[in-house]
Order: sequence, then C-alpha cells, then structure tokens
Amino acid sequence: MPELGPIDWERRLSPAAQRLKASDIREILKVTEQPHVISFAGGLPAPELFPIDALEAASSRIFARDGGTSVQYSTTEGDPALRTWVAERSAVTPDHVQIVTGSQQGLDLVCRALVAPGRAVAVEDPTYLGFLQVTQFNGVRAVAVETDDEGLLPDALDRALSTGEIDAIYVMPNFQNPTGRTTSLERREAILDLALAHGVPVIEDDPYGELRFRGEALPSLHDLAIARTGDPDRSPVLRLSTFSKILAPGLRVAWVVGAKPIIWRLTLAKQAADLHTSTLTQRLAVELLPIVPDQITKVTEAYGARALALEEALDDAFGSAVLRTRPDGGMFTWLELPGPVDTAALLPTAVEAGVAFVSGGAFHCEESAGRSTLRLSFSSSTPDQITEGVSRLAPVLWGALQPVG
Ligand SMILES: Cc1ncc(COP(=O)(O)O)c(C=O)c1O
Repeated sequence: MPELGPIDWERRLSPAAQRLKASDIREILKVTEQPHVISFAGGLPAPELFPIDALEAASSRIFARDGGTSVQYSTTEGDPALRTWVAERSAVTPDHVQIVTGSQQGLDLVCRALVAPGRAVAVEDPTYLGFLQVTQFNGVRAVAVETDDEGLLPDALDRALSTGEIDAIYVMPNFQNPTGRTTSLERREAILDLALAHGVPVIEDDPYGELRFRGEALPSLHDLAIARTGDPDRSPVLRLSTFSKILAPGLRVAWVVGAKPIIWRLTLAKQAADLHTSTLTQRLAVELLPIVPDQITKVTEAYGARALALEEALDDAFGSAVLRTRPDGGMFTWLELPGPVDTAALLPTAVEAGVAFVSGGAFHCEESAGRSTLRLSFSSSTPDQITEGVSRLAPVLWGALQPVG
C-alpha cells in the first residue's frame, strides 16, 4: 500500500476559499471576552432579554403535541404559519416569502442569485461587514457609494449605476450597521427612483427596524415600492428581516420578502444550500408570535436607555470635539475622530484600559478607508457599565487627539 501523506490544503483551496480572511470582529471578540473588559465591540443582542421561559414552555408544548414531526425534514419555503405571519405584515402573500437560516444566509442567497462573479453590488460607505464577506466569498465586487446623515447620496448612486457594472443595491435604511443612521424618506424614494430607472434590484436589509426608541417609523423601501406599483410582483425590492434582534439570534430564523419569480429562485438556491431552516426553531418562533409585540417593547426600552446613557456619557466626555451619530434605534453609534488618527492602533491601549470597540476600517470596501472612525455597540452593556466604559475610553481617545509635545 502507498504511504499516506498529509494533504497540502493551501494548494487545494478553491479561489473562493483563498479569498476568505478572518473577520476583524471575530478576532476582537476573542480579546474582549475577558470579564474585566466592557465591550462596545461585539454588537451582540442582550442575552438577559431573550425570552427563555417562553422558549422553554414552547418547546415542551411542541414536543408533546408534534412529536417526531417537530424534528423531521420540512419544506424549503418554510413553516406555513410563519410565512403567513410575515406575509400579513408585509402586504403580500405567503408565496412572496422565503424563510432563511438567519438573514446572513438570505444575503448570501440573494447575492448569488442576482450577481455573477466579477460583477458588482453598490453598498453604503461604510456598510455591514457580514455583507462584505458575502461579496468576497462570491467573487462579487462591493462598490462603496458615498453617504451622509440621510443615507446614500442619490447623485453618487446614479453615477455608480450609470457604469452598467452594478447588478444590485444593498442598503440598511433603519439604524444602519455600523453607523446607526436612518435613511430619510426622501432618500428612500430617491433610491427607489434610481433602482426603477436603471432596472436594478434593491436588497433592503432590515434587522433593526423594529428597535426604534424615538421618532416616527418610516415606510420600508418594500412598502414604498408596493404603494407605487400596487403589485408585489413588480417591486424591485427584496426585503430581509430577522428574529435575531427581537427573539434570539441562535434560533437562526429570518425571512426574505420579494416578487414571486425571484423568491422561487431563492427557494431553489436554498434547497442546494441547506434543504430548509430548522423545523424546530421555526416552530419555536411560531409559538412565540403572540409575545413578539411585548418582546419588541422590552428590547426597545432597554436599548433606548442604553443608547441614552452612551449619548450622555459621550456628550460629557467629548462635547463637540468628536463627531458622532445619534441613532433613533438599533444597537450602534458611530464616532469620527478629527485628524489622522488610526483607531485600530488605539485598540490594544483601550483593551488594556478595560474597554473595547471596533475600528471603522472593518466596514469599508477599501481597507485604508475609515481609519479615524469607530463603532460603539450599546446593546449588551447596562447603562452603568456604559458610563464606566466611556470613562475608560475617553482618556484613550483624548490621548490620540492631543499628542504630547
Ligand atoms: C445589517 C445586518 N444584516 C444581517 C445580519 C445577520 O443577521 P441574522 O442573525 O439574521 O443572520 C446582521 C447581524 O448583526 C446585521 O447587522
């Protein structure tokens, strides 16, 4: 028998696998897991708000009532009761709804279904790191389009679309990750105008929309498209939402809503990817539907108090010296330091001082961009911890703003 040698895995990797690199946030999370560190880095939902008792009671009910079918294979489209619930909230039929294993899977399937390798997606600058990973793995280019406090700049988006290279527009209109910004109604309309004029679909990623702690809710791009066309099958918008930030992310239950012809393709793509989303966690989600409104109130109130604590602590610590966003919901605040400060280089000092953040470069298509920015997540610390965290962070940032000498 020939002697068995080890496989040279590096040489065996596909080009797609070779393009993958470890996410900065994963690396940071390893450091910030130390108990003495107050972490504004992770962006995890608060675990003490997960509806554990309701989940426990629901799982007993499901096993007693459904027995083996609760853990049997099920349909790729998703649980009928869940699809009906989503459809009713989105003014569509269940055939316009695909259940996915987290919106992260939805983003991957949508990207693969709409954008060929080598082609491009227009993204907000900065954008969600997880979507940049999706584009990278799929060999798709992410083209950064300039933004301001109201969202994508229509002129810049028009220029990008006019190149003819863009096959989809990816936006997070509510409490964007990483900036916490909300796209204004005028900009939502303008994005829709441009999408329709250029015939390019919009990927509307909305995991945080329900978590509004002040101000009035704005219609989604999906709602605006339906209001204009009167027909879900003529909408250019694919809207993704999730239970991750409302119930619990480990359920991995989310959904995509869109025109039937593309939803049908996503169903086929999902069949190839994982057959279906977990039968059990979909049923848990269905059992928990009656408590969703209370759960949204509970999470929103807690995050609102945390956001306010962060806002007040940052106001006290920096006054007008540091530009920052004032989110109306979600989990993130964005800081922009004046001058040529490299926030990635400040992170080790911050961790030594017992506080962590994510440096802004991670959220840009160009690694060199956004060096002087950083993201603070206020979801997973109490108001007291947040106040203490900012008192640890302030000297580190001030030290970089005012070089000695
Ligand atoms: C903008 C955005 N999209 C998608 C996701 C992934 O959510 P899910 O847990 O539904 O996969 C996240 C998670 O943080 C996110 O911030």
